[in-house]
Amino acid sequence: MPDHTWRLTLLAAASLALTMAHAASTTAMTAAEGPMAAAVARGGQLFDHARFGSTLTWVPDMAFHAKPMTCGACHTNGGKTIGTMPNGKQIPSLIGAAADFPRYNAKKHAVFTLQRQLAHCIRAGIGGKAPAYESPAMIDLEVYLISLSKTAPIGRNVP
Ligand code: HEC
Repeated sequence: MPDHTWRLTLLAAASLALTMAHAASTTAMTAAEGPMAAAVARGGQLFDHARFGSTLTWVPDMAFHAKPMTCGACHTNGGKTIGTMPNGKQIPSLIGAAADFPRYNAKKHAVFTLQRQLAHCIRAGIGGKAPAYESPAMIDLEVYLISLSKTAPIGRNVP
């Protein structure tokens, strides 16, 4: 084989290897995106519909029927809008909220992780029983909240 043919063959092999490496990394990205998107979707469903065993209901302002108590009952529009509790207390928008955890909770004298905050919200807000830390439901809820914090700066509470 003449010398330049060898070089061409080597070049072709190298470029094939590069293409394959590129394809592999693209596949790895989509492989992560699918499950993450699915977790966001499941977490959003839990946010709007899960009752965590609670039988509480509430009647929103101007409504005729009681709604089941869920995260979304207070945090309307998937948690993306600011609301008001019946007692006038402000309900914060949850956009960017996850980026503020872990965070010190003065009342409990403890640093709260996001999952601990979620457990608190399920018990105190919904009146339900929180799933175990790291359980599939807690992870899905966490991922949903993180999706509301996409690109938010983290570490603002770290001195
Ligand atoms: C009964 C109404 C109510 C329900 C139900 C409720 N929340 Fe909240 N949530 C609030 C209010 C009011 C605050 C702000 C004051 C506070 O921290 O207690 C808050 C605060 C939060 C915060 C902290 C936000 C920040 O930046 O300070 C997160 C996160 C949160 N809620 C998530 C949830 C999730 C997830 C659920 C469902 C598991 C839920 N909440 C259920 C009323 C509610």
